[in-house]
Amino acid sequence: MPPKLPLRSIKPFRLQSSQIPYLSTSTRKAPCFYGPVRVRVPVTPAQPRLLKLQNHLSTTTTAMSQNNNNADFKLDKLFDVKGKVALITGSGSGIGLMATQALATNGARVYIVGRTEEKLQRVADIYGKDIPGEIIPLTCDVSKKDEIKRLVADISSRERCLCILFNNAGISLNTQQTEARSAEEMSANLFDDPDETFEMWTDTYRTNVPQLFFMTTAFLPLLEAAHKHNDNFSGVVINNTSISGIVKTSQHHFAYNASKAAAIHLTRMLANEIAQNGLRVRVNSVAPGVFPSEMTAGESDEKQKSHIPREKYESKVPAARPGEDRDMANAILFLATCQYLNGQTVAVDGGYILSAGSGP
Ligand SMILES: NC(=O)c1ccc[n+]([C@@H]2O[C@H](COP(=O)([O-])OP(=O)(O)OC[C@H]3O[C@@H](n4cnc5c(N)ncnc54)[C@H](OP(=O)(O)O)[C@@H]3O)[C@@H](O)[C@H]2O)c1
Repeated sequence: MPPKLPLRSIKPFRLQSSQIPYLSTSTRKAPCFYGPVRVRVPVTPAQPRLLKLQNHLSTTTTAMSQNNNNADFKLDKLFDVKGKVALITGSGSGIGLMATQALATNGARVYIVGRTEEKLQRVADIYGKDIPGEIIPLTCDVSKKDEIKRLVADISSRERCLCILFNNAGISLNTQQTEARSAEEMSANLFDDPDETFEMWTDTYRTNVPQLFFMTTAFLPLLEAAHKHNDNFSGVVINNTSISGIVKTSQHHFAYNASKAAAIHLTRMLANEIAQNGLRVRVNSVAPGVFPSEMTAGESDEKQKSHIPREKYESKVPAARPGEDRDMANAILFLATCQYLNGQTVAVDGGYILSAGSGP
């Protein structure tokens, strides 16, 4: 509850409209942080922007706004994804698979997308049985615009809307030794490395950054339709970025970390521009620390799961372990359902950023 301010503590607006040319003379219910108050309000150039943002963020569900009964605080209300339509890219392994399980076992219909059909089919066969939701595999290379177009057409022919888009697919290509005892050694490590090429940088960037832009903008109409069919649930985009885009260490892969930093800023820009246009679509990102996946473990087993020995991260992460399925599941359910979260990056890293440092 916001603090109750005595009415007299709100000072009357004393400026005359003639004193400032852009002042409106009308009186209206002004948006105030502590609740509505009737005041004369200036119509400044900044206001249309604020009003658009308010329209965008006012997605309180009818159930929550009518009363405060305790039933509204039940987990299945707060984190309700039952019947929601979700699309997750890169969901044949790793974090995408964790998110798929989190949503589908709680009743969402989840389209899983990747380039390798057999991986996706195995996920659908193993994890799609006896659950309240569904897992539906679709192949697509999300780094190609025409394939994204085809994917949008396919989903549009099956669904009225898309509630949750998890742009999760990503790649990391080359690692380098950054530690050196001289400028010559450092230059040789980083510049002379034959695998560190302009092409490698652009390939990494292509999959990790513009893909988020094209997927989000292509699916906007379907995402915007989500609130019309789901009791005001605003469509949500979750970009999988990384703590690698936040920490100052290169972690031995400059190109990957630079791409993830770009992905975090892209998340903010998309959230902002979408809100500016008054569209009810939220854009956030999850920035995982280390989680077992094909990217971090180099392989996955017959169930498409990967493993990292706990001891490997005992001294590297305050949590003294890598992330687990349930850590990611918690985060995805929160990001998908919290109607008041927009333009944010949520780090789920066992405290890694605390130890690695993100500041200058
Ligand atoms: N695991 C971690 O510790 C960690 C930490 C921070 C951030 N992340 C991010 O998490 C995301 C998922 O990675 P992960 O760690 O779970 O690794 P992963 O197991 O290798 O999963 C990545 C998935 O993306 C798919 N993919 C790659 N390029 C694609 C494309 N062009 N089109 C469609 N699908 C594509 C891959 O499947 P196909 O090859 O079959 O297409 C693969 O299933 C990535 O964005 C990664 O940067 C991971």
